[in-house]
Amino acid sequence: MKPLENDTFLRACLRQPTDYTPVWLMRQAGRYLPEYRASRARAGSFLALCKSPELATEVTLQPLERFPLDAAILFSDILTVPDAMGLGLYFADGEGPKFERPLRDEAAIQALAVPDMAKLRYVFDAVSSIRTALDGRVPLIGFSGSPFTLACYMIEGGGSDTFSRVKTMLYDRPDLLHHILDINAQAVAAYLNEQIAAGAQAVQIFDTWGGALAAGKYQEFSLAYMRRVISLLRREAEGRRVPVIVFTKGGGVWLEEIADCGCDVVGLDWTVDLADARRRVGAKVALQGNLDPNALFASPAAIQREVANLLAQTSGTGHIFNLGHGISQFTDPEHVAVLVDAVHGQKTYCTAA
Ligand code: CP3
Repeated sequence: MKPLENDTFLRACLRQPTDYTPVWLMRQAGRYLPEYRASRARAGSFLALCKSPELATEVTLQPLERFPLDAAILFSDILTVPDAMGLGLYFADGEGPKFERPLRDEAAIQALAVPDMAKLRYVFDAVSSIRTALDGRVPLIGFSGSPFTLACYMIEGGGSDTFSRVKTMLYDRPDLLHHILDINAQAVAAYLNEQIAAGAQAVQIFDTWGGALAAGKYQEFSLAYMRRVISLLRREAEGRRVPVIVFTKGGGVWLEEIADCGCDVVGLDWTVDLADARRRVGAKVALQGNLDPNALFASPAAIQREVANLLAQTSGTGHIFNLGHGISQFTDPEHVAVLVDAVHGQKTYCTAA
């Protein structure tokens, strides 16, 4: 493998000095890019795109051809893992992800098992193919859903506004939910370790729904299992540390505890003040985030102002610029170019803190 030309992102993850603040965007490859929509049309569906290492490589690189981003993220989905567990993932048009066989009874829950990683070969093949295509330009981020966020989809059978089935199980049969989470944690750890073995240089755990949990329940049903996953991860590859990023959307109230779960980086949504977050976590972790994705709908001048405001809240070191959640499909790609230039244009030299 060629040595990395741009390791700014990896250095920032470890709170090492960098020349500028690195930037990547959650969902940077996706529907807001016309070239993504063309690739998806050629593939026939989103899942076909995910399952073809060649096409997954193509769409992973698309945003990097347009914008000087500091990292690539594997094009895939968090729901590949429950799909490999046999739940039957499909995407109904305009309705988001669904499972043919959600976990609806105790027998199904007791039968749940860590999937054979060979079923996810297409993901690991995509990782190695992307590494080859990147040719050392920027690092590649691998990812997984958190055990709890995966459980939400596995139990509800799709997206949910209320999580009524998950919450019912949590309060009535916590033993069953713990059983699912235990299997999920083992599966997620194996899945991430295979991505790292295939060439992922950092990994992010997406805990999209952890923030829906009550105080105390977050720690018991989401954070504890992310901690378990992290404890099982291989943390070095190709002679470098493989940083782990934990992103709990809505996790701002629990920052101190999240920063203590063994991760290198805490991802922040847009409700958190960056300077306040730094005061709360101290020097323990790097911070990633946290522009409101909807700020990208505003004018270039407003985007530049918001970027400057966010960067003024950091000391530079140990900050990776990102959105507070995934980019909207209705975003104008020109506005993304403005954002990336604005971040790179703020040459606040980042010294060790
Ligand atoms: O960030 C990236 O560019 C990498 C690719 C990526 C996708 N999904 C591609 C995708 C990543 C990291 C994900 C993670 C993911 N998937 C999460 C966690 C992050 C988050 O956004 O909270 C979740 C909850 C999922 C499950 C999922 N997949 C949902 C809810 C949807 C529907 C989204 C919607 O807006 O309709 C998907 C589909 C999906 N995953 C798309 C993409 C580009 C859109 C599919 C399409 O082309 O129609």
